[in-house]
Amino acid sequence: MVKQGILSRYRDLLPVTANTPLFSLGEGDTPLTRSPQLENKIGCGSLYYKLEGCNPTGSFKDRGMVVAIAKALEEDNRAVICASTGNTSASAAAYAASSALDAIIVIPEGKIALGKLAQAIVHGARIIAIDGNFDLALKIVRSLSQKHQVTLVNSLNPNRIEGQKTASFEVVDEMGTAPDYLFIPVGNAGNITAYWKGFVEYYQLGKIKQKPKMMGFQAEGAAPIVRGHVVDNPETVATAIRIGNPASWQRAIAARDESGGVIDMVSDEDILEAYSLLASKEGIFCEPASAASVAGLLKLTRRGMDLSAKSVVCVLTGSGLKDVDTATRKTPSFTVLPANLADIEKAIGWD
Ligand code: F0G
Repeated sequence: MVKQGILSRYRDLLPVTANTPLFSLGEGDTPLTRSPQLENKIGCGSLYYKLEGCNPTGSFKDRGMVVAIAKALEEDNRAVICASTGNTSASAAAYAASSALDAIIVIPEGKIALGKLAQAIVHGARIIAIDGNFDLALKIVRSLSQKHQVTLVNSLNPNRIEGQKTASFEVVDEMGTAPDYLFIPVGNAGNITAYWKGFVEYYQLGKIKQKPKMMGFQAEGAAPIVRGHVVDNPETVATAIRIGNPASWQRAIAARDESGGVIDMVSDEDILEAYSLLASKEGIFCEPASAASVAGLLKLTRRGMDLSAKSVVCVLTGSGLKDVDTATRKTPSFTVLPANLADIEKAIGWD
């Protein structure tokens, strides 16, 4: 069966009109998997991962991008623009290419994981790398989109949020109920906004009886919401969430407060610990920013949070293959040997 995509599957709950092209590159319907080991280790009732790295361009951005691009086509706009820490630009480039639109992307130079840059290059986007961070890039593309005939496809575009909310629909459709807690990384804060919108809508439709608590996690060096002020020079190993002035700041706070959740921060060390644990114990290769959700879960449970009778979903936002530098940085990661049986057996310990 041909994969449906979110525009068709959730058309009644999306801004779809008779003129919206219902196309798909295969986004959505991502796996919700049960934790093989960590669930027991932390004594959690049930722990699930929403594997958003399984989207066509390897991140959750595709859910919002397909809606944003479909609406641009509907309105007969032929070019899209975005600022990005990498994943939005990869997604915009792919979806624009598939619809014969021009994609212009503005990125912070030297701060994009190579896999994401490769995606923008191979999909034929016009790439502008600036001497400045994501926040400045976003300011620039906002101005450009007001001045020129081009659709802004950052999450300031409401169609992006609309598409991304389908991830909460899927979580509920799969579990038959909402989890007690949803752990999620926070960067520009569009995704936490979108998940919350999705849960609220399902609640209003009577599909769930209770909404989850939204547990957002920023990186310590890029934690404006936690600190309560703009961070001028955000820094973190999790380049995807290296953001000092999130566009959806207020909406993230609303999601936190209305749900009774928290927005907290995790150190780079915490993030890398969770990243390694996910890979080495759970069999999941996600990118560092994604691991912030699990780093947050570990932080809170270590501080005594009791989840023994609770269901938890951690959103793993993007694929580890996007950022192989972080994975291969660890030394020594392998042994170099001559190609003979005896030496190899010796190295393995089978001699
Ligand atoms: N995880 C990944 C892998 C991301 O790429 C992002 C954001 C986030 C989490 C945070 O989501 O911004 O909605 O709070 N990436 C954006 C980009 C900023 O340009 O790709 P958010």
